[in-house]
Amino acid sequence: MQIAPSILSADFAHLAAECERVAGASDWLHVDVMDNHFVPNLTIGLPVVQSLAKAVSTPMDCHLMIEDPDRWAPQFAEAGAGSVTFHAEAANAPVRLARTIRAAGARAGLALNPATPVEPYADLLGEIDMLLLMTVEPGFGGQPFLDLVLPKVRRARQLLRDRDSKVWLQVDGGVSEHTIERCAQAGADVFVAGSAVYSADDPAAMVRRLRTLAQAAAAD
Ligand code: DX5
Ligand code: ZN
Repeated sequence: MQIAPSILSADFAHLAAECERVAGASDWLHVDVMDNHFVPNLTIGLPVVQSLAKAVSTPMDCHLMIEDPDRWAPQFAEAGAGSVTFHAEAANAPVRLARTIRAAGARAGLALNPATPVEPYADLLGEIDMLLLMTVEPGFGGQPFLDLVLPKVRRARQLLRDRDSKVWLQVDGGVSEHTIERCAQAGADVFVAGSAVYSADDPAAMVRRLRTLAQAAAAD
């Protein structure tokens, strides 16, 4: 059970310090890259990721909500991200892209929007290290969790089980102390949380609480 706080909800004027607030408690720092084309929002890009790679010790989990990830994603791996996730809806050649990311030394993640079915990607599972199922429409932090994605999380977990796969199953969007147990019970094992972590009085304590809740729910 891994927790990846999303720095989208952090104070961008003090980004390195905000990362440090959760560093000891977190498995990954989730970095949301948005280009105002694939999603309506615009956040941070490659130069900020390059700087963060030097400033923070927690590995970065870069979630690229951008058009043309085939062109840009490998550079995030080369910048030092430990994991680079691109969207199936945006990639032209997902197999080639996943192989390029892995060759650059990062874990490769494939993300699916709420309306994108997982079954067409079953044969690609051997090419990736993580499958990200969005539990909101991508673009903004602080949106309500979409329960309608949970059946897909269960089906994805079954696909992984059938293949004896070690691919991680990540959920992102609306994950909080109120929703994380449902995600864990459905089979997710990596949890992104932005507003839930950074709106807490003690963000690191919230990360630990989320992990405890996920572990208990999965063990049920
Ligand atoms: C949404 C982003 C998420 C976002 C999650 O498009 O991919 O990572 O930061 O924020 P919360 O946890 O507030 O829904
Ligand atoms: Zn994200």
